Amino acid sequence: MPARSTSLTLVTTVTTAALVVLSGCTSTKPSGSGGSSVELVNSGKLTTCTHLPYEPFQVRKGDAIVGFDVDLVDLVAKELKVTQEIVDTPFEGIQTGEDLNAGKCDLAAAGMTITPVRAKNLDFSAPYFDATQALVAKKGSSFTSLASLKGKKLGVQQGTTGETYAQKNAPGVTTVQFEDVALLLTAVKTGQVDAAVNDNGVLFEYVRKNPDTEVTAEFETGEKYGFGVRTGNDALRKEIDTVIKKARDDGRYDRIYAKWFPAAPKK
Ligand code: ARG
Repeated sequence: MPARSTSLTLVTTVTTAALVVLSGCTSTKPSGSGGSSVELVNSGKLTTCTHLPYEPFQVRKGDAIVGFDVDLVDLVAKELKVTQEIVDTPFEGIQTGEDLNAGKCDLAAAGMTITPVRAKNLDFSAPYFDATQALVAKKGSSFTSLASLKGKKLGVQQGTTGETYAQKNAPGVTTVQFEDVALLLTAVKTGQVDAAVNDNGVLFEYVRKNPDTEVTAEFETGEKYGFGVRTGNDALRKEIDTVIKKARDDGRYDRIYAKWFPAAPKK
């Protein structure tokens, strides 16, 4: 009876996966919490999945990984009296919730936009950053809109909202997919693609350091970044929200913002 054996296999798989995730857990109590303890996949650590590089949100500097997201998650780790450990892993496993489900990390912090599809596969914190899509090209190019790229090559980052935006809004433009933003932006510099689409914060940081490139357009996509936790991990999600709200109220959020976005108008 094939139907029966299929469902049995499914049950076994789900049970094993749940055990694997649970067996590695340790719990820790945030100091100011009402008592609910947060389960962590590695004891004494808040393990974060991210996809490098995504400057200024997360980028390797020497031996350390630093950035806006890193600093915010450090506030959560501090509250839990643990240290943050960052795991660099492809964006696909992050945005599909797979890494969180597999117990690879407690949370995902990757300049990740909250979308309805992703929210089905993982739970998001309250929004912590606003973003839009933008277009980057070599300085002096005539590529100032998606329409101007008809018949040309537009670079996109795999699995991102920028890729989805380009697929929907750039008819007649050939999109070329790159695994990470470093490869994407190098392709703009070398002329492998005529322009690239990605989040404004990352592109403005890049053109600041690479004056031979410029941001030629912004598209008001109204995106908001959220930290991801495994579906149903309400203890950690609420802890993140409490810490970020407190940091917004007491000025720590603004100081971290000013540190990583020195050129941005004060918000
Ligand atoms: N905000 C975009 C998205 O969520 C891009 C995120 C890419 N992040 C990264 N760390 N590679 O799709």
